[in-house]
Amino acid sequence: MRTYLVTGGAGFIGSNYIHYMFRKYGDEIRIINVDVLTYAGNLENLRAVEGRDNYTFVRANICDREAIEKIFADNEIDRVVHFAAESHVDRSIVNPGVFVETNVLGTATMLNAARKAWERPDGTYPEGKKFLHVSTDEVYGSLPDDDNAFFYETTPYQPHSPYSASKAGSDMLVKAYMDTYHFPANITNCSNNYGPYQFPEKMIPLMIHNALEGKKLPVYGDGMNVRDWLYVEDHAKAIDLVQEKGRLFETYNIGGHNEKRNIEIVKIILATLREVLPENDPRRAHVNEDLITFVEDRKGHDRRYAIAPDKIKAELGWEPETMFAEGIKKTIRWYFESEEWMAHATSGAYQEYYEKMYAGR
Ligand code: NAD
Ligand code: DAU
Repeated sequence: MRTYLVTGGAGFIGSNYIHYMFRKYGDEIRIINVDVLTYAGNLENLRAVEGRDNYTFVRANICDREAIEKIFADNEIDRVVHFAAESHVDRSIVNPGVFVETNVLGTATMLNAARKAWERPDGTYPEGKKFLHVSTDEVYGSLPDDDNAFFYETTPYQPHSPYSASKAGSDMLVKAYMDTYHFPANITNCSNNYGPYQFPEKMIPLMIHNALEGKKLPVYGDGMNVRDWLYVEDHAKAIDLVQEKGRLFETYNIGGHNEKRNIEIVKIILATLREVLPENDPRRAHVNEDLITFVEDRKGHDRRYAIAPDKIKAELGWEPETMFAEGIKKTIRWYFESEEWMAHATSGAYQEYYEKMYAGR
């Protein structure tokens, strides 16, 4: 049975990935989820898999060398899927230090531990071992406001925020390990994800939550910045495909050619909410464009992101399956039906869940 070590599995993309993998492979695989549970890590995202014999949660910091080495020593790890990171650009502007620690030093710790466990005395690695480093399109910087400009795997790195600079640093470390030690890895650089379990500091869940509560919808700057949105399950599928069929040492860009301006997204959310809300729901009275408020721009705000997914499509046959109109409806329904999850996420109550759920373990 193949064993996956997933880091950051209690976060947004990591938890969606774990659900996807168990749906696809059932009892054929084992997953060990290592997460330190920062404010962004929420075990409520993983309630449905908690009872499985082939799922284990380990609370540990990826910067903790001993804890990570112990996991490798106690388990025959075949695959590492490395999601754990500080992920929010606005937080990185306020507090860059923790981004360097987790994203750069944490990735170095993961690479060292995997290399120590996997590398043979002759410098080779057993067949099937692979480290997949999950990264972002933000490392490429910002594109001009031109519908024909895209990020390719060959686009030079030009990060602007402390977040993207720290992710670029982590990518460079993975590249260095591949070049220096022939370390078996892949890097994926993905565009903006949306879907269930996303922490409501990110634009889409924040706007859904605020609109339902009748709070202002804070649009940064002129609202004309472009992001390339991908349904999170399509990202999970792409990661699995790169693990299964990707050529070692390669980078794959993941994105769905779904570029939209922020203001468009906010208007789509409002229109979709009005479709989804029952006729007699009192919130219909305030869910409208009057809530939109233009606020001070994010410092160093990248103007446009757009991924060219040509390589992953040509080599691995990956294409997004969930179109935005359908994905945003599914997402809004999910937040709409997950009031308790949202209440816990916004009050921080989910942090107590770990203490209760794992008391004495
Ligand atoms: P997230 O913030 O929702 O989750 C991050 C998870 O990592 C949390 O569970 C957190 O507790 C955990 N974590 C943080 N620091 C840790 C540490 N020191 N040790 C152990 N665990 C730690 O993030 P996300 O949006 O799910 O992003 C996951 C990965 O995907 C990140 O590497 C991010 O850079 C990348 N990415 C995200 C997007 C996106 O749109 N969200 C797009 C492309 C790439
Ligand atoms: O592109 C991939 C990246 O996407 C990931 O690497 C990051 O981890 C992820 O957080 C995301 O970064 P963004 O900064 O693009 O996502 P965010 O949801 O924070 O913002 C999306 C856009 O919306 C961005 O242009 C800023 C704007 N925005 C954001 C918030 C939170 C607003 O206008 N208002 C807001 O309140």
